[in-house]
Amino acid sequence: MSPHAHITGWGMYVPERVMTNADLEKIVDTNDEWIVSRTGIRERRIASDEETTASLATEAALRALEVANLSPSDIDLIIVATSSPEHLFPATACLVQDRLGAGKAGAFDLLAACSGFIFALDMAAQAIRSGSIQNAVVIGSETLTRMLDWNDRNTCILFGDGAGAFVLQAGEDPAGVLSSVMRSDGSGGDALSIPAGGSRFPTSIETLQNGLHFLQMDGREVYRFATRVMSQVTQEAIESAHLKIEDIQLIIPHQANLRIIEAAARGLKVPLERCFINLDRYGNTSTASIPIATCEAIEQGRLKPGDKVVFVGFGAGLTWGAAVVQWSGPFPGRRKVYPARYRYYARLRSWMLRILRRLDAIIWGGLHREK
Ligand code: UT7
Repeated sequence: MSPHAHITGWGMYVPERVMTNADLEKIVDTNDEWIVSRTGIRERRIASDEETTASLATEAALRALEVANLSPSDIDLIIVATSSPEHLFPATACLVQDRLGAGKAGAFDLLAACSGFIFALDMAAQAIRSGSIQNAVVIGSETLTRMLDWNDRNTCILFGDGAGAFVLQAGEDPAGVLSSVMRSDGSGGDALSIPAGGSRFPTSIETLQNGLHFLQMDGREVYRFATRVMSQVTQEAIESAHLKIEDIQLIIPHQANLRIIEAAARGLKVPLERCFINLDRYGNTSTASIPIATCEAIEQGRLKPGDKVVFVGFGAGLTWGAAVVQWSGPFPGRRKVYPARYRYYARLRSWMLRILRRLDAIIWGGLHREK
């Protein structure tokens, strides 16, 4: 029998700096009443100069590993879903792999915008079910506020920074990720994009002058798309798990806009209370919003082992997707592991690997000259 992909660890990390709607009123022509009534957002977190997408991701991953009681050396696969990678390459996931000291893990980034965490969860679950890996860490991490035009009130009020992570482990019990659905429609790609900085529009004076390296969005278009797909894809994922909406204890939607979540709840004919909402405090953290919301749902006792939960999201691409999970909780542990301590070991390991690479280059250089 093929193994099941259980979620056995979870962790979140958000920057300390809070930016309220009142703070935004000082930057752009907006007001608290408009932002709250149109989006439900009251405040968001902003990364400090020292914080990066990889550093937030590493903190969230260490917390998730602590819950799962797994050390970084146990990880086979790291997927970072992000809309604000540190570079085009190397992948942010490789930076996280190095910071964790996860010596045997393959690592890659997944770009499906705000749906990225659901897509990454699906990929990791498939790898576990196929039997090719045992343990995976899936992370959603963002410093998207660095890609915003702070003069554009249509976008700068919406987003925030943060990271969330799950640990997935192979287990025999029939629970964990029960089904997932991934969908895309590239014909809507221009509704939400960062046009420049890639190979289509390499960074130039013109792209900078025209602000093409900033996030651009047709808010109404994205809103219409989101309200159309959220309930539909939730239903699809539930059917694919051979369940009914009544079997689902909690829905954790992408935290973009309260009105979009309300429309999804109406479409599914479930009370809004069945949906977890925390966007008032974090805004839209893109790929990180679902794992951050999950951590808070657990903390508040709204998600317990045995419960069935749906994760559902949408984003640029266009992309959308949903996953049905029977919640597991950590596997009974052997010895207690303290993953945070690996931070120092990982730094030493990385430093030694860099020195070895230098020595290697010197030795090879010498041999080459002797020939
Ligand atoms: O992860 C996916 C990310 N994207 C999304 O989730 C975005 C989905 N879309 C939305 O959430 C909504 O479309 C928005 C919140 C972005 C906008 O809400 P809306 O109800 O669709 O407003 P609107 O764009 O239709 O704008 C209504 C008015 C406009 O003024 P006029 O043309 O009617 O005079 C805007 O200029 O509100 C104005 N406006 C603002 N006013 C105060 C737009 N942004 C602001 C603002 N403060 N920040």
